Amino acid sequence: MSQNETPSGISPGQIDDLRQRALAAANNAYAPYSNFRVGAALLLDDGNIVTGCNVENASYRLTTCAEQAAIASAVSLHGPDIRIRAIVIFNLNNAASQPCGACRQTIHEFSTPSTQVFYPTASGSLACSSIAELLPSAFLLKNL
Ligand code: THU
Repeated sequence: MSQNETPSGISPGQIDDLRQRALAAANNAYAPYSNFRVGAALLLDDGNIVTGCNVENASYRLTTCAEQAAIASAVSLHGPDIRIRAIVIFNLNNAASQPCGACRQTIHEFSTPSTQVFYPTASGSLACSSIAELLPSAFLLKNL
């Protein structure tokens, strides 16, 4: 591993690029109810980058999170075999913004053991966790 790489093999420059793209996506967020504007940028295993933002609804529970929007877009654009190498989450509210439980399960669906999740902490720095750390014992549907 070079000094310019994180343990995940993703360079700080790549992470910063993904953070900028997540920020740009957050600028498009539709969040008139919470005013919490979130963006997510996915780096796929094949090098493609796809972003998403949260889209709220007057019927609150119909809200789509930024991570879920990005993943739905990635599948739409690149097909059902996508694998996430890294996801960077950002918000425009200067707040900690770790993925919610539902998003963890959605990320898990398209993850590998080395998928890395980067998210803002309260101090503004980006924390990094594997999806296995964020969602141990994820739900799996097998043997049906
Ligand atoms: N939100 C996300 O976009 N991602 C998450 O992982 C957590 C929450 C959005 C949903 C809602 O529009 C706003 O943040 C406040 O919950």
